[in-house]
Amino acid sequence: MKIVLASDHAALDLRAYLVEKLVMAGHDTTEVGALSTDAYDYPDAADELANALPNHDFGIVICGTGIGISIRANRYPQIRAALCTTEYMAEMAREHNDANVLALGARVVGTEQAWAITKAFLVGKSSEVPRHIARVEKLGRPI
Ligand code: RB5
Repeated sequence: MKIVLASDHAALDLRAYLVEKLVMAGHDTTEVGALSTDAYDYPDAADELANALPNHDFGIVICGTGIGISIRANRYPQIRAALCTTEYMAEMAREHNDANVLALGARVVGTEQAWAITKAFLVGKSSEVPRHIARVEKLGRPI
């Protein structure tokens, strides 16, 4: 799969770790956002991901907590970003919410847990149950 990863400075190490794991698992990756540990604003990283997402199957956004970058990512109507701390949340984010972006907190989950969450997200399948599809459609309704 083609996966774009965006992070701020706080999540550079976790982003690099996940890229290594994803490449080893046979995925194509693109990185956007911070290039060094110099302060890099997480909303800018989310904006870069939103621009790159149409050329990818999924996105991953990471900041210290995963909160700020997921808030910004979810401002885009085409993005359903899910902040996950467990494999179950990642599975449900795909199955019930048809999430297309996984959000992680580098200061919240360890590297092994982040990889386990990422794998659960990538193998997840969006539900074909009509009530689930209808709810996801409602997520995109104009306010
Ligand atoms: C950066 O210090 C931190 O605020 C950021 O990575 C993120 O946690 C914001 O939600």
